[in-house]
Amino acid sequence: MPLRVAVCISGRGSNLTALLDALDTGAPARVVLVLSDRPDAGGLALARGRGVATHVLADYASAAEWLGVLESASAGLIVLAGFLRLVPAPVVARYRNRIINVHPALLPAFGGPGMYGMRVHRAVLASGARESGATVHLVDEVYDRGPILAQARVPVEADDSPERLAARVLEAEHRLLPAVVLAAADAGHPVPLPSALELSR
Ligand code: GRF
Repeated sequence: MPLRVAVCISGRGSNLTALLDALDTGAPARVVLVLSDRPDAGGLALARGRGVATHVLADYASAAEWLGVLESASAGLIVLAGFLRLVPAPVVARYRNRIINVHPALLPAFGGPGMYGMRVHRAVLASGARESGATVHLVDEVYDRGPILAQARVPVEADDSPERLAARVLEAEHRLLPAVVLAAADAGHPVPLPSALELSR
């Protein structure tokens, strides 16, 4: 039986699209639910258009609401794909080692509270770093802290703008996240990706 995946979003959902494309018919994992803290998240319409059930959290801090929805969907893996809220601690405890997050930088650098969206890419450029990338990690009770499962590196160009860097990193996210989910489906739980798969290009 395919691994049942719940995807949590706050915004446009391009990583959700990458997952839906990668987990088509016959794949060992399937997106069964999209959860959002925002009724206006663009990814919700996208999910509905592709026949995936959606749920807008009435209270994103309510563990009872999360647990009710996740249990009714029989979710085996939770993917945070551009989800900007902290997952309630009882939910992290209930799904320990079965929640992953994609972050648009090479953690542990450029992560933590307030490090999201363009802020991340501006900070990378301001630091003078020569490379950035995407990280997929297990989620624990602290933003961006859990064990790293996989990273994909991209170069920082000499004349980069935050927008250009963001686009390059996003493309890496779109390859890395489905690869981690497929590996989780094969193993039955999230596992570190062999470094051979952490291709930068
Ligand atoms: C991605 O860069 C992701 O790493 C970050 O938020 C962004 C979400 O983009 N956490 P999208 O909604 O998947 O297009």
